[in-house]
Amino acid sequence: MFRQFCHISPVLPFHSLAKVETRVSPFLQRETPRLRLTTITGGLVFRHGFAISPVVSSFTRVSSFRQGHSHFSNSRFRLSSLSKINTPNNYTKPIVGRWLLLSSGLVFGIVVLGGLTRLTESGLSIVEWKPITGVIPPITHPQWEEEFEKYKQFPEYKLLNYNISLSDFKYIYLMEWSHRMWGRMIGLIFVLPAVYFGFRGHMSRPIIKKVVGLAGLLGFQGVLGWYMVKSGLSEELMSTPGAVPRVSHYWLVAHLGSAFLLYSGMFLTGLQILRDSKIAYDSFPKGVARILANPSLNKFRRLAICVAMLIFLTSMSGALVAGLDAGLIYNEFPYMGKNIIPPKSELFSKAYARLGEANLWRNFIDNPTTVQFDHRVLAISTLCAITTLWLYSRRLMLPPKARLAINSVLGVSCLQVTLGISTLIYMVPLPLASAHQAGSLTLLTTALYLVHTMKRIPIKI
Ligand code: HEM
Repeated sequence: MFRQFCHISPVLPFHSLAKVETRVSPFLQRETPRLRLTTITGGLVFRHGFAISPVVSSFTRVSSFRQGHSHFSNSRFRLSSLSKINTPNNYTKPIVGRWLLLSSGLVFGIVVLGGLTRLTESGLSIVEWKPITGVIPPITHPQWEEEFEKYKQFPEYKLLNYNISLSDFKYIYLMEWSHRMWGRMIGLIFVLPAVYFGFRGHMSRPIIKKVVGLAGLLGFQGVLGWYMVKSGLSEELMSTPGAVPRVSHYWLVAHLGSAFLLYSGMFLTGLQILRDSKIAYDSFPKGVARILANPSLNKFRRLAICVAMLIFLTSMSGALVAGLDAGLIYNEFPYMGKNIIPPKSELFSKAYARLGEANLWRNFIDNPTTVQFDHRVLAISTLCAITTLWLYSRRLMLPPKARLAINSVLGVSCLQVTLGISTLIYMVPLPLASAHQAGSLTLLTTALYLVHTMKRIPIKI
C-alpha cells in the first residue's frame, strides 16, 4: 500500500506508520535505496524519503539519497529532529568517514617520515621535481652515479657533504624518495575514492565541498614541499658568508602548518560523518546528547577550541626551532644561560633586524635564541592552559568520551613537554626529536577529539 502511495503522491499522511519498516518500490529504490521509517508518531512523509512531524519525538532514517531537492515548505510543521542531517543534501555514508580517518592516519605517517627526512638531513638529496617519472628510483649503478653527479652541483654537497660516499648518498636519497612516494600514495588514496564516492552519491554537498577543499590543500602541500626543497638548493647559499645549506625555515613552517591543517580537516570531517551517521541511524546515545545540550558547557567548549589553537601555534613555533636548528643552543632547562630569560640585547639583536631598528621584530622569526625562548614560553603556556582546562572540567558533567579526551590531552601534554625538554638537553638526538614531533600531532589529535566530542548534537530531546 505504502509503495503505491509513494509512486503517485509526493505527500502522504502516515499517522498509521508508527514502527513500520518498509522497503520502497524498485523504482523508488533506485532513487532512495533502503528507506526506513521508524517510530514516527504523526506527520507527513514525502517522496524521496523525507518526513516532517508535528510531534517531534523521533525521526526518519534515510540512506543513500540521490536527489538534490527538498520539499520542506510547509511552515505549519516542525521539521523532524534530525532534519538537518537527514536531507538529501546532508547525508554522507559512514564509509566516507572511515576513509577520511584512514587518510588522516596516512598524513600523520608522512609528517613523522618528513621529520625523519629532515633529521637525517636527507631532504635535499633529490634535486628535481618529477611527479610522474620520479616514481622509479635509480636502479643500475650508472643511474645512481648520474643522480649523485646532479646532487654534487648543489650547495649541500659543496659546503657540507663533500666527502660522502655513493652508499651514503643512496641512503639519504631513498629517505627523501620514500617521503615523496608516501605523498603520492596519499594523493591516490585520497583522490580516487573521492571521485568514486562523488559519482556514487555517497557524499552530501557540504561534505563534497570539504573534500574538494582538502584535495586542494593536499595538492598545495606537494607544491609547498617542492618550494621548500628549492629554497635549500639556492646558489645564493654559496655566496652568503656562514650560510648553512638547509631549507628556509619559513617554508618549513608553511609545509608543516599546512600538513597539520590537512590532518585536522580530514580527522574532524571523518569524525563528523561517523557521528552524523550514528545520529541518523538513531544509535547516538540520547543521554550524551542531553548532557551536550546543557548551556553550562558552552564556555568549556570554547576554551577547548582555544587550547587546540594554542597547541597548533606552539607546534608552528617548534617548526621554527627545528628550521633554524635552534635546538642546538642553550641545551639546558629551565635556564638559558645565567637566567631563565636571556639578555634583552640577545633576544632583540640588531644583527637580525636587517633594515634597522624598526625591524627588531624579525628576531621572533630569525633569531635562534628568541625562537627557542618563544617556543619554551608557548609550550609552558600551553601546558598551563591545558591543566587549567582539566581542573575546570572536574567541575562539569561531561560525556564519557569527552572526559576521556580531556584526560588524554593532559596526559599527552605532560609527555610532550618532557619529550621537548629531553630533546633539548640531549641536543636533538634522532629518536627523541622524532618522538617529540609525533607527540605534537598526537597532542593536537587529542585536543581535536575533545572539540569533536563536545559538539552539540542536533537532536531535540
Ligand atoms: C605543548 C608542548 C610542545 C609542543 C606542541 C611542541 C611542538 C614542537 C614541534 C611541532 C616541533 C617541530 C618538530 C619538527 O618539525 O621536527 C618542535 C621542535 C622542538 N621543540 Fe617542541 N613542543 C613542545 C614543547 C617543547 C618544550 C617544553 C621544549 C623544551 C624546552 C621543546 C623543545 C623543542 C626543540 C629543541 C625542538 C627542535 C627539535 C628539532 O630540531 O628537531 N618543545 N616542538
